[in-house]
This record gives sequence, C-alpha cells and structure tokens, in this order.
Amino acid sequence: NRDILMKNISKETDFPLSFEEWEQKAAEKMMPGGFGYASSGAGREETAKRNQEAFSKWAIVPRMLNDVSKVDMGISLFGRRYPSPFLLSPIGMQVLAHEEGELATAKAAASMGVPFLVSTVSTYSLEEIAAAIPTGSKWFQLYYSSVNPEVSFSMVERAEKAGYEAIIITVDTVMAGWRETDMRSQFSPLSQGYGKGNYIQDPVFMESLPSHDHDSIVTGILENIQHPSLTWKEIAEVKKRTSLPVLVKGILHPEDAEMALEYGVDGIIVSNHGGRQLDGVIASIDALPAIAERVKGKIPILLDSGVRRGIDAVKALALGANGVLIGRPFLYGLAVGGQQGVEKVLERFMQETEVTLALSGMADLSELSRLKVVRG
Ligand code: FNR
Repeated sequence: NRDILMKNISKETDFPLSFEEWEQKAAEKMMPGGFGYASSGAGREETAKRNQEAFSKWAIVPRMLNDVSKVDMGISLFGRRYPSPFLLSPIGMQVLAHEEGELATAKAAASMGVPFLVSTVSTYSLEEIAAAIPTGSKWFQLYYSSVNPEVSFSMVERAEKAGYEAIIITVDTVMAGWRETDMRSQFSPLSQGYGKGNYIQDPVFMESLPSHDHDSIVTGILENIQHPSLTWKEIAEVKKRTSLPVLVKGILHPEDAEMALEYGVDGIIVSNHGGRQLDGVIASIDALPAIAERVKGKIPILLDSGVRRGIDAVKALALGANGVLIGRPFLYGLAVGGQQGVEKVLERFMQETEVTLALSGMADLSELSRLKVVRG
C-alpha cells in the first residue's frame, strides 16, 4: 500500500484522480452534444443522482488486526479468473468520446485483465474489436430485436464465433428513456448513423433492408433496437441458441431475479442503466441486498450504476455482488486519454480498492461476505 501511495504522489498527477475531475476534463474534450448524451440521466435525473448518493448511505464497519500484507482482489466468473472485480459496462458508440473508440477501450481492458463488454451499437464491429484483443476477455451485449429476432440470433452466433465468452441481454431498454438533455440539444447518435458497426456487418440485417443507402440503414437500426414485446420466453430462446452463458442486465426487483433463476439464466446484472432509462427508480446498490438474498449464490450477480470509486465497489461486493461494472468513469478516461486514459481510470479503481480492502481488514474478496456494511 505504501508503494501505491508513493507512486501516486511522485509521478501520477498528470491524469485526474477523482471521477469529478475526469468528468470535467472529458467535458472539455467531447462535443457538447456527445458529452450531454453521455453524462445526463433520464427525466429529472433523480436516479442518476441517487445512484451515487446511495453509496454514501452505506457504511463499512472495518475489522482490525488481520494480516493484510497481501491483498488478493481477484474474482472468478464463468470459469475464468480475473485479477480484479471490475468489468467495463457496455457503452455504445464510443467514437463519441475518442476516435479510436471501442478499439482503445478494448486494448486497455485486455492489458488490465478486465472483461470488455461490447455493445450492440458499438462503433466498431464485434469482429474488429475481437481482432484487437484476441486473448482479452470479451462479452457481447445484445439489444434483442422484436421486429426481426433472426438479426439477434445472427449477432449471437457471430459473437460466439469471434470468441466472445458471454451474452448479456439488456432488459431495461424496451424503448429509449425520456432524455431531455438530448431533446434540447437535438442529439440522437443513432439517427446520425453512429453505432452501426454490428448492423452493417450483419448479413441477416442487411438482407432485410429494402436498400443499402444511409437512410435505410439508420431506419433499420432504429427499428431493430427497440424490443417492447421482449419477455422471458425470448430470453429462453436465446439460451437455447448459444452454448455461452447468458446474463440479463437491468434487474432491480428480487422477483425478477427469481424469474431469472427459473429460466436458467446464468447471471444477473443489477443495474438501472446509469439512471438513463426509467427515472425515479431505486439505486442499484439499494436493490442489491434483497436480490442477493433471493439468489443465494446460485448464479453470479454483477452490479453497475453509480460506481465511482474503489470503496463503492467494496460496498457492492460486501452486499452480495460477485463483480462490479463501471460505465461513465471509463468513458471519460477514454475521452481524456484514449487507451491510456482508460488504463489510468482502471488503475485508480484497483489501487483504491486494494487500500479499502486492507483498511477494512480484508485480505481476500472471498471473505467479503463477512465484512459488515450498515446504513450509516
Ligand atoms: C450506456 N449504457 C448501455 N447499456 C447497454 O446495455 N447497452 C448500451 O449500448 C449502452 N450504451 C450506453 C451509452 C452511454 C453513453 C452510457 C453512459 C451508458 C448503460 C451502461 O451499460 C451502464 O449500465 C451504465 O453506464 C452504468 O452506470 P454508470 O457507471 O455510468 O453510472
């Protein structure tokens, strides 16, 4: 730990430290419409704010006099060991933050041993990203298409062929949230044609279009990305069509977690989409304990929305998560410094997590269920 602190003091002041500093720097780098799209929440932005405030309402009750000279913060998920509990949330259209977009983020994730979750609406195609990190862990996030499920099955098949290790179906986006910042700035990345990487590479999607001009492609994507009729039946169908683990992202209710178990889903991501979908919903850290109680360790639980520091991750892990995803923090790292920026953000998270674990008296994440976290 002394090493960590010395390192930061001596030569690490060229990159921001706190989330707020990264965000401010990213705001200077990004186009206003793109930054507004990334940073804002839905509606009154209650949930976007609550996500972060909620972490402060949980308090760690640390243990003393445990040997913490070696802290192991590694986790295992779906048969693979990772050196830290962090994953990168699927974020679409990362070219809005940096011209190298997902390619830079993927390389950063791979170099830090972190799984990279590729969005359906990534700028670069899932194959291009896979080629950039042949051995790095990558998972594919699916926006299920209700207009043409065959497009979804085709994408899942492509992901499996390209070496992706899991499929994540996002279930809190039956339609886009009510986002006033984007309405005001008249910013709609999809309708401008961003995020078409996976679609234009998809033979089933391209064949379904009346023509291949810009407008037909964009209209096709906008139709395919919506899935208001999605139910557990379709989740079961995706599971049948792949041998990869299937996770659902966007679960907040313990009964939905129980449904996930019933339908044989392999993992749950407790998330409110960073407050970008339904405003006024519970913070994901507050939704976690009841979900963990129902799931009882049968399948892994991951969490995102509002994780801004190592200590937030430790609270989530102590309350029952098996891993933690970060969204906007890495996107801002990408905007500020490309691949190196994402690596720095991850490094900060890992270092603070290590310090937090040691100061809590925890040498190993497997002991974390014994760490007392109370409403404080
Ligand atoms: C997202 N998110 C998201 N989720 C998803 O399943 N597919 C996607 O394509 C996107 N795209 C996306 C774009 C942008 C700009 C943001 C900020 C978020 C949601 C994302 O995966 C994650 O749930 C939240 O970002 C987590 O919250 P924090 O860490 O940003 O607070």
